[in-house]
Amino acid sequence: MKRPGLPFVFLNAALTADGKIAPASRHFEPFAGPRDRQHMLELRARADAVMAGARTVDLDSVNLGPGPARFRRLRRQRGLAENNLRIIVSGAGTIDPEAEIFRHHMSPIIVITTERVSKPKLRRLQGLADEVKVVGRTEIDFTAALRWLRAKWKVKSLLCEGGGELNGALFAAGLVDEVHLTISPVIFGGRAAPTLADGLGVKKLEEAARLRLVSMSRQGADLYLIYGRNRRRKAGTSHFLSNARQVYSDRLNNMSESN
Ligand SMILES: NC(=O)c1ccc[n+]([C@@H]2O[C@H](COP(=O)([O-])OP(=O)(O)OC[C@H]3O[C@@H](n4cnc5c(N)ncnc54)[C@H](OP(=O)(O)O)[C@@H]3O)[C@@H](O)[C@H]2O)c1
Repeated sequence: MKRPGLPFVFLNAALTADGKIAPASRHFEPFAGPRDRQHMLELRARADAVMAGARTVDLDSVNLGPGPARFRRLRRQRGLAENNLRIIVSGAGTIDPEAEIFRHHMSPIIVITTERVSKPKLRRLQGLADEVKVVGRTEIDFTAALRWLRAKWKVKSLLCEGGGELNGALFAAGLVDEVHLTISPVIFGGRAAPTLADGLGVKKLEEAARLRLVSMSRQGADLYLIYGRNRRRKAGTSHFLSNARQVYSDRLNNMSESN
């Protein structure tokens, strides 16, 4: 479904059969088959920008770039820039300045943050990223952030690569157009292990984000699923959204208590 002024948002994740995206340690080791990395790079080769949350970027060794030359060629053939833009979401600016991504200079890095970021952290991020955009007081207004990305950076297609907290916020805001899942026959278990969409989630079925299955295939032991957005649900209307707001006001309260 086209939404004027916003990019097309597609999300990609590898899940265990119990819906986890990493073990409770949050230390990521690839658990899907070798095809999954190619799949990720193929999806990146369709995106003007690739976005991830602060913990995905600083706990793992990721650069969010397009990968080997053949993917960069593919991008050019498709009329895209050789290297995708890279976007980090960090509401309080906690991203580790030593993170791997800042060592790779193939394309601009944009940090999306909020007014919760302290002045020293903001200055530090401004020294690391090509642009730091404050969008929202205590929580990121993703609709405004995506509108700005489209207008300022010409982002028409945006690939979100997690983690669970960022995915949860995008579902909550009703901004996800397409979901690509690789499901592997692995069980992590553990209630602290991150899942596809974290945050508070919904309280009732009727509040859930609804998807429709578009395709399903099997590669080795893994299932590859693509879901589209279900048009019956209106963007940003569910209690999921107010729950997400609650997460950020709780976080703000915790921060002021610990200061
Ligand atoms: N299997 C897979 O496909 C896959 C893919 C990606 C990640 N992962 C795994 O997922 C785990 C990380 O996920 P995660 O849920 O812990 O973290 P995350 O979503 O990557 O990052 C969380 C951080 O990002 C910022 N953030 C996210 N949503 C925000 C929002 N709505 N507003 C403001 N800031 C927001 C916050 O930064 P501040 O603290 O600065 O506010 C927050 O602490 C790692 O273990 C990683 O390995 C797995």
